[in-house]
Amino acid sequence: MKRIGIMTTGGDCSGLNTVIQRLYRGATLRGWQIVGILDGTDGLCATPPRALEFTNETLPIECARLAGSLLHNGRANALNFETAAATGQIKKFNAQLKKSLTELKLDVIILIGGNGSLSLAWRNREIYSGVQLICIPKTIDMDIPLTDKTIGFNTAVQQLTTFCDQLMLTARSHHRWFITQTMGRDCGQLALNAGIAIGATAILIPEIKFDINSLINHIKDSPNDYGIILVSEGISLRGHSGRPADIISRKLTAAGLVNRTAYPEHTQRVGDTTAADRILATRMADCALRAIANNETYVMTAINDNRCETVGLAEFFDAGYITSDPNIPDVMTSDAYVSPDDPLLDIATNMGIYIGETK
Ligand code: F6P
Repeated sequence: MKRIGIMTTGGDCSGLNTVIQRLYRGATLRGWQIVGILDGTDGLCATPPRALEFTNETLPIECARLAGSLLHNGRANALNFETAAATGQIKKFNAQLKKSLTELKLDVIILIGGNGSLSLAWRNREIYSGVQLICIPKTIDMDIPLTDKTIGFNTAVQQLTTFCDQLMLTARSHHRWFITQTMGRDCGQLALNAGIAIGATAILIPEIKFDINSLINHIKDSPNDYGIILVSEGISLRGHSGRPADIISRKLTAAGLVNRTAYPEHTQRVGDTTAADRILATRMADCALRAIANNETYVMTAINDNRCETVGLAEFFDAGYITSDPNIPDVMTSDAYVSPDDPLLDIATNMGIYIGETK
């Protein structure tokens, strides 16, 4: 018999509730107990720890499609590794976390998180030395190395596509351009994938430098007099302050191109979870349960070559994605970013989409 705690940390995304519900279903079928930790590490180190015992009533099948997290992802000003370190409370915080794991009688902790949560879990791995630590990758940014897929990305691409599909209609009615700013931090996967889906006129991503004059000429030469320019939030515009979409918009206006800006913001993180994300979440939950049965620890579930297996967190460290020194920024994602040989880049160019100065 295993007693498992689950928590969701970092930004929310669609698919979190799917993975929670599938973990509950699979674990109970194996005769294991499963408990939800509320508010991530903030709830775990509360006295007493904030925990939720699941039942078929509290976790019905249909909640698996809903965005957000039934367990929440930590509140504003929450106590977590970062805030504890910043306020000099890290030792106390770590000791409390360890105490809570014992108090809840956990054999396993499943952490459903993004790259920030993963690196913090690795750096503070001593806390989890008495339990099995299994991580499940989720993020709309798709910026986690050693896995081809992350939970929430597919729904975010769908949300962004739906948002832009609507804009395209008004863009056409008024013969104008919409500069739409996407999330994704410093990773262009979300913008690139949604841009292909909607038939964007241009896609600007952090991984590829662009030239504003080339962009303007490309728009002017477009066979249409309307369309969408997707701008990833992480593109760097040195010497300018303000949101990237606003800056590009001003340049286009100065060049005589009638345009508006649009910000889908957090709508990219919500929306009914797509079937693809639900299937992915189910595969990840199944993989996590297999890892528990095999007594694995310090691992993350991952999709590689379309197989769902675990990879060791130590592999992130060995590959330099996670640094041991909290003062040195992680390089976390080099193999998850859009690589120069990503086939979507050539496809975009072949379809007449400007994606920057690739040559
Ligand atoms: O990492 C997920 C993400 O949605 C990023 O794409 C975005 O930059 C950030 O989180 C927004 O964070 P917040 O919810 O704090 O506004």
